[in-house]
Amino acid sequence: MNGPVLSLDVADTGDREEFRRAVVAGLSATPRAIPAKFLYDARGSALFDEICDLPEYYLTRTETKILEQHAGEIGERAGPGCALVEFGSGSSVKSRLLIEALPDLALYAPIDISREHLEATAARLRRDYPGLRVEPVCADFMGPVPPIEHAARRVGFFPGSTIGNLEPAQATAFLRNARQLVGDDGALVLGVDLKKDPQVLHEAYNDSAGVTAAFTLNLLRRMNRELHATFDLAGFAHEAFYNPAEGRIEIYFRSLRNQSVTVAGRRFDFVEGERVHTEYSYKYDEAGIGALARSGGFRIAESWTDPSRLFAVVYLEAAG
Ligand code: TRP
Repeated sequence: MNGPVLSLDVADTGDREEFRRAVVAGLSATPRAIPAKFLYDARGSALFDEICDLPEYYLTRTETKILEQHAGEIGERAGPGCALVEFGSGSSVKSRLLIEALPDLALYAPIDISREHLEATAARLRRDYPGLRVEPVCADFMGPVPPIEHAARRVGFFPGSTIGNLEPAQATAFLRNARQLVGDDGALVLGVDLKKDPQVLHEAYNDSAGVTAAFTLNLLRRMNRELHATFDLAGFAHEAFYNPAEGRIEIYFRSLRNQSVTVAGRRFDFVEGERVHTEYSYKYDEAGIGALARSGGFRIAESWTDPSRLFAVVYLEAAG
């Protein structure tokens, strides 16, 4: 009984040291930036789930509708007996749509960096689909992933427009990695948020209830708690805007006045208006998705969208 608890404690300390190093490096750099993955502690993950239900945040509900509508076609393309590999599975709500649509699914392998999340998700899926083999893989999907042993076709799943949170070179690197994992006969079901009226984009990342702001500022709370930082949450604000030249939403926290903050024993000075970058969310058009797919060794076999063309789900097949 002590074993798992001990190993959890060790993992926790390691995570905290990685967080400390990333924050000190990020606040020492010009311009300042903190990697987005640190937004997702337990409270951050719960706030993100709340974002997904916001009226302004059309992404989750639009993608879910597209998947519901076209799950049968995805199942036909994939064929019987394939293995489904999900990259960054979170709580696997959308995966269920594919699990139920893929004929004689042989294996579901969720890959996620959070062991706790993975184990909870795997347990729920095993309970709900007693015949299904569920083999969770605890890994960072940007790095090497242990091979998924399966004779029939391997189909990857990367929903939520998480691909948009990667810079274009990283997105290509992700696709190449996925391409290698699914193999020459493999496929990838990819969810991508589309370019659209900047006002609609702006509202999706600046909701009126302030949940997105709470999500960004939760990073400051996390630094206060885990790194003995002294951020005054009232002294900083969430900032998100669409950059049309780069085709991306940019997200920051901004200092509302000149102030000094101590983080992990070091002092950082902020001038009024200074920003710390936390996340990009790139938006694509059809041509951009095609180019991105090709750069990663895939081609678009089929693509589905909603009537307002807000979001696209594409079925990519391994090319060449
Ligand atoms: N993949 C999501 C997106 O790009 C992540 C996200 C949604 C997000 N809302 C956010 C990230 C707010 C940071 C802040 O839309």
